[in-house]
Amino acid sequence: MCGIVGYVGSKQAVPILIGGLRALEYRGYDSAGIAVGYDGTVDVRKRVGRIDGLEELVSQRPLRGTAGIGHTRWATHGRPSDANAHPHADCTGAFVVVHNGIIENYAELRDELAARGHRFASETDTEVVAHLLEELYDGDLVRTVQRAAARLEGAYALAVMSRREPGKIVAVKQASPLIVGLGEGENFLASDIPALLPHTRRVIPLEEGEMAVLTRDGVQLMRLDGTPVARQPMTVTWDPGQAERGGYPHFMLKEIHEQPRAVRDTLAGRIHRSGEGVVLDAVRFDPEWVRQLRAVYLVACGTAYHAGLVGGRLIERLAGIPAWTEIASEFRYREPLVDERTLFVAISQSGETADTLAALREARRRGARVLAITNVVGSSVAREADDVVYTWAGPEIAVASTKAYTTQLVALTLLAVHLAELTGFTGPLGRKNLLESLRQLPSAVEAALETEAAVRRIGEQAGGWRDAFFIGRGLDYFTALEGQLKLKEISYIHAEAYAAGELKHGTLALIEQDTPVVALVTQPALREKMISNIEEVRARGAAVYAVVRQDLLGVDRYARQTIKLPVVHPMLMPVVAAVPLQLLAYYAAVAKGTDVDKPRNLAKSVTVE
Ligand code: F6R
Repeated sequence: MCGIVGYVGSKQAVPILIGGLRALEYRGYDSAGIAVGYDGTVDVRKRVGRIDGLEELVSQRPLRGTAGIGHTRWATHGRPSDANAHPHADCTGAFVVVHNGIIENYAELRDELAARGHRFASETDTEVVAHLLEELYDGDLVRTVQRAAARLEGAYALAVMSRREPGKIVAVKQASPLIVGLGEGENFLASDIPALLPHTRRVIPLEEGEMAVLTRDGVQLMRLDGTPVARQPMTVTWDPGQAERGGYPHFMLKEIHEQPRAVRDTLAGRIHRSGEGVVLDAVRFDPEWVRQLRAVYLVACGTAYHAGLVGGRLIERLAGIPAWTEIASEFRYREPLVDERTLFVAISQSGETADTLAALREARRRGARVLAITNVVGSSVAREADDVVYTWAGPEIAVASTKAYTTQLVALTLLAVHLAELTGFTGPLGRKNLLESLRQLPSAVEAALETEAAVRRIGEQAGGWRDAFFIGRGLDYFTALEGQLKLKEISYIHAEAYAAGELKHGTLALIEQDTPVVALVTQPALREKMISNIEEVRARGAAVYAVVRQDLLGVDRYARQTIKLPVVHPMLMPVVAAVPLQLLAYYAAVAKGTDVDKPRNLAKSVTVE
């Protein structure tokens, strides 16, 4: 995720661009930059860090001009730095580009352009676009952008300016959001509505594969093949706070709904075209070392720990390497048996959690190789690791983790497949089927969001719950752990998760008439055993809310309510099943009137041990 803005009109562009970037800072804040056109030139100012830094730079080295584009970055390819900040330009400085999203085939394009003499100034995927424009320019910027876009693969939104055709912004939308704002004698562009609201409420959201050409006198919309598009603008009635949350009442709900996109981005370019393997750019394992591995330790806190539990199981079953998942604050104090033949996987959304960092340092001190799974490029965990798999969830603002969790699961699946390729282990799980299902995962997450209305009804009742139990077997137990944490942390309802087979060893004593029990049944091999466990609690009066993979029949009759989930590979069900549990916690918290995005006593990034 990153934020893009654009302005063309008769006012000075700089304050409009900077104001727009401030409204989009929630989309990323690793660096910021603007390009402004004036008298046949386009000048760029950009700087690592927040927008205040850019503003300071612009006050030292002012820019004049009435057309410009701007960008606030959430780093994906290339660490946060001045050089990697957008806008990016070609070798001649004639074409400047800002970009949100991922260009999957950038490495191929970069090699091709480098072979033709292009020199690159950054590590980003974006810069290839500027060089491609330079290479393809034929005297018509719009046509050139169309030809360049035909070479790009991935999900992206672009805004382009050129000194060859001043006073014009060409924008392209391919999966990442882009919205045109219409003014009088001026027009605007932004990744999201809050950046437009101070100037106009008349907007046109671009659709997939569309372009917009903005000048001060008007906006032309077309398909990427040049076919004109006619669309009436819509009028936005949101207030600015609502707009920042994309019209959702809370960031948490917005982030829950962002998961299909976040999962898609985390997968982008990482499944090999053949469908047989994965591509992890920043992982450089020696295959011989992987074959000699004694163990993988996955270490994290809270929700990330729950992702690690699933990840450990995936690694064992796919790659055939023993895997242990531990809570970071426990790991370092127990003299772990970690050495050079250990892979240590630190999982952290923020990349700054003190306990996870301390465990990472301890593992490194004992000789382990460290791999980070994190959402923040350049974070401490990423910097201190040997290898990194980034989750491309974009900034997560609500304290309760949602899209970071599901993308951690995706990253861990990719890691497990990669390890399996290197060990050559041919366990019972076909890698090919799993990868096939992984490709379908964004749509399955979308389908899981369709449970919202039904889950909401349960959530509204849940506002009145005193305690709740979450039960499951196998991977469903880990999902149950995540479900109970979500419910506890934002609704303050006491909740516990149990491996369903364990209930009869003690906890069953707590089940009485109407005790809420959320039962997960997503693993075909465990369906019958789960049905028996559900019967056990129901016989004691429990109110069972079943969350079931829809092809696993026979659960409904034991449940007060059943939430049905789309079918994906059993190892991927934790991603899909997380969605209704997040929604359940959310609607229970709303029913109780708690501060959903900022629950009491908690912080987004825990930098104390
Ligand atoms: C719960 C939650 C926390 C975090 C934990 C680790 O919703 O968000 O449990 O998962 O504090 O944080 P990171 O992943 O930043 O290390």
